[in-house]
Amino acid sequence: MSELCITGGRRLEGAIPVQGAKNSVLPILAASVLSGSVSVIHNCPDLSDVRATLAILRHLGCRVEQQGHTITVDASTLDRCDIPERLMREMRSSVIFLGALLARTGEARLCMPGGCELGPRPIDLHLAALRRLGVDVRELGGSIRCCASGLHGGEISLAIPSVGATENAMLAACGANGLTVIYNAAREPEIWDLQQYLNACGARVAGAGSSTVVVQGGMGLHTCQHTVIADRICAATFLSAAACAGGEVEVQGVPREQLVPVLQVFAEAGCRVRSEGDRMWISSDGHLRGVSPVRTAPYPGFPTDAQPVVLAALCGSTGSSVFVETMFENRYRYTMELARMGANIRVEGRVAVVTGVERLSGAALEAPDLRGGAALVVAALAAEGESCIRCLRHIDRGYENLSGVFADLGARITRRA
Ligand code: UD1
Repeated sequence: MSELCITGGRRLEGAIPVQGAKNSVLPILAASVLSGSVSVIHNCPDLSDVRATLAILRHLGCRVEQQGHTITVDASTLDRCDIPERLMREMRSSVIFLGALLARTGEARLCMPGGCELGPRPIDLHLAALRRLGVDVRELGGSIRCCASGLHGGEISLAIPSVGATENAMLAACGANGLTVIYNAAREPEIWDLQQYLNACGARVAGAGSSTVVVQGGMGLHTCQHTVIADRICAATFLSAAACAGGEVEVQGVPREQLVPVLQVFAEAGCRVRSEGDRMWISSDGHLRGVSPVRTAPYPGFPTDAQPVVLAALCGSTGSSVFVETMFENRYRYTMELARMGANIRVEGRVAVVTGVERLSGAALEAPDLRGGAALVVAALAAEGESCIRCLRHIDRGYENLSGVFADLGARITRRA
């Protein structure tokens, strides 16, 4: 089984161009079935989730080519609208194919992805939104069958600004007749990126980035090129590592506005943070202070996906910090692994209290999920001695060559096959 071995305590120095955003590229690849034409998508990170999405596209009959970080999808040959369980199980975000397939073919058949990583991840809001556009949804056991003889525009008011439900609604609305307005839409930058892709194909979508998204459906879509935005959660991971290991790191490609709550935490913890355009610099002596309570929230609040890496960085701080996880119930499993390194973290329900210890020590660890795995890497970079992290398949879902990136910054890190 492959593992990542890290000897902590080295300062990190250098500049990192941040990979393309996982949470942008996955819905954009799903959206590529909409146009029935060719999409050339640049800056696609090499991730197992991306490979799983390409397998779904191939299964649907699309022709897919990958050259470096550019993926070309020819959706003109699409000839089916079902996704088998084997492919759905790979990745939860494949549920975005619902809206895309409905818009293209008027039908979609897939099964609920099983298992649970961060706690229950219902799709009731996705289905309610699709129903508002005239979709007949049937749930049978673990499978979902959606049909729409004529998708029509409509008003959708989301009970929670769900990222996935907003994306599914946007995609289905592109194939509907008339105007769709999505109220209480998620405002994440990845929603804006999806809008940019759709508009590049000829769709008419406006308002992404605000809480009202308007889609004029039924536009003829055509071939397009699009470049995926950089991954703000990867950027937060690199900032967290530099903050606790110490050093001077430049993170390139992500505008400061996308990470304000994270940058504020590190400034409060005692780091020097500055930014210009889409470049950010962090400098830290590795001695952090505890910070005011951190509460995760939908964008532009503190991102739930950054909670594990930031909490990990504060394990060696002076004082205590409180984290409140409001988005996903089961997001603290990695704290048990951090405890093996000597971290002092008390978890009760959605609240975690981190009391800094002088130093973490290296340990044998298992990544419990994607961001929890990244949190272990962050902690190990600052710890004394060697840590070996297993279950890298979780980390590979969202980080391209994480060991190479940290090695380039001067970390002692190797991946053993
Ligand atoms: C996306 C991101 C994920 C991130 C999350 C929140 C992708 C591929 N994944 O996930 O990395 O952690 O946003 O920023 O983009 N909910 C319901 N019913 C639904 C849908 C969601 O109750 O039908 C709840 C969820 O349980 C959760 C909250 O809404 O508590 C937000 O979830 P959502 O924004 O939908 O997250 P995802 O799109 O799954």
